[in-house]
Amino acid sequence: MENTHQPERSVTTMTKSITQILTARDSGIDSALNFLSDGCLVAFPTETVYGLGADARNDIAVAKIFEAKGRPRFNPLIIHVASTEAARKIAMFDGTADRLAAAFWPGPLTLVLPLRKSAGISPLVSAGLPTVAVRVPAQPLAHKLLNRFNGPVAAPSANLSGKISPTSADHVIHGLSGKIAAVLDGGTCDVGLESTIIGFAPDPVLLRPGGLPAEAIETCLGTPLGAAPVSAAPISPGQLASHYAPDALMRLNAPKRITGEVLLGFGNVECDLNLSPSGDMVEAAANLFHHLRALDEQKVQRIAVSPIPNHGLGRAINDRLQRAAAPRN
Ligand code: TXA
Ligand code: MG
Repeated sequence: MENTHQPERSVTTMTKSITQILTARDSGIDSALNFLSDGCLVAFPTETVYGLGADARNDIAVAKIFEAKGRPRFNPLIIHVASTEAARKIAMFDGTADRLAAAFWPGPLTLVLPLRKSAGISPLVSAGLPTVAVRVPAQPLAHKLLNRFNGPVAAPSANLSGKISPTSADHVIHGLSGKIAAVLDGGTCDVGLESTIIGFAPDPVLLRPGGLPAEAIETCLGTPLGAAPVSAAPISPGQLASHYAPDALMRLNAPKRITGEVLLGFGNVECDLNLSPSGDMVEAAANLFHHLRALDEQKVQRIAVSPIPNHGLGRAINDRLQRAAAPRN
């Protein structure tokens, strides 16, 4: 990863990529903001765990999150903003969501709400879902960063996929050194447990227990929370068989198109739309949902897709394509 900002302390890796450790001073925040604006990844502290942040409007930056974490799937990500007012520009709140936000934000609560299309959020953030997860963290450094960035920051926990969530900058470095531009060091996280996630179906349901006790939410609402329907469990949106399918029938691993098909290409192939002419996985991931949607909007009947190498981000791309191609129910 190339960067031009002054390091405060650096960790050099075998690959010579450098992850900067930025202090909680204004100069550290300035560097973090520059990285975010440049589409680079910056880990930052929240009161729950450290998040791996990217500009949520930048497709390539969001794709880099999945690459750095080695996530085999495009699980949807949480968007972090500085205020409820900023969250309203991204998601649609009903009366219940309003009450929860008023009671618990800033704090360790995430709300999954209908996404405003006009918000310009990369479709990779919500993994193509019509909903989006948002939260307003309380940690002062996170608040300063988000306030000054003045835009939405997508951030999963800043650990390698399948590993434990980090609660200190050293934990982040341990897992992601050399894979991300910087980590903003805000010390140890107070809560140390991920945020509680509430969805609406349409009544509030607990999608993930977390740092805010469910009882506190139930007291606020005056009613018990519903249990998450199996299909809405936080880990599982991507596991629903044909969840993100376009209307067209799909044929995968297709070296070329046959009559009646359009070809969604990858690499140096003659095709109708190309995920990445140069065969770059980050670019392909960034384009995936945009291109599937574009073909859907053209009302094509059959989409053939070039073979995508099944390593790195290619695994997540293939996972998503296989779901899109799964038999419809
Ligand atoms: O405390 C936290 O929540 C931390 C800090 C960094 O904010 N973040 C975090 O993110 O734990 P992550 O990616 O590790 O977990 C986010 C969870 C995932 O399980 C994901 O499936 C769920 O949120 N999620 C995100 N968007 C969703 C959506 N639209 N519908 C259902 N679940 C969603
Ligand atoms: Mg996580």
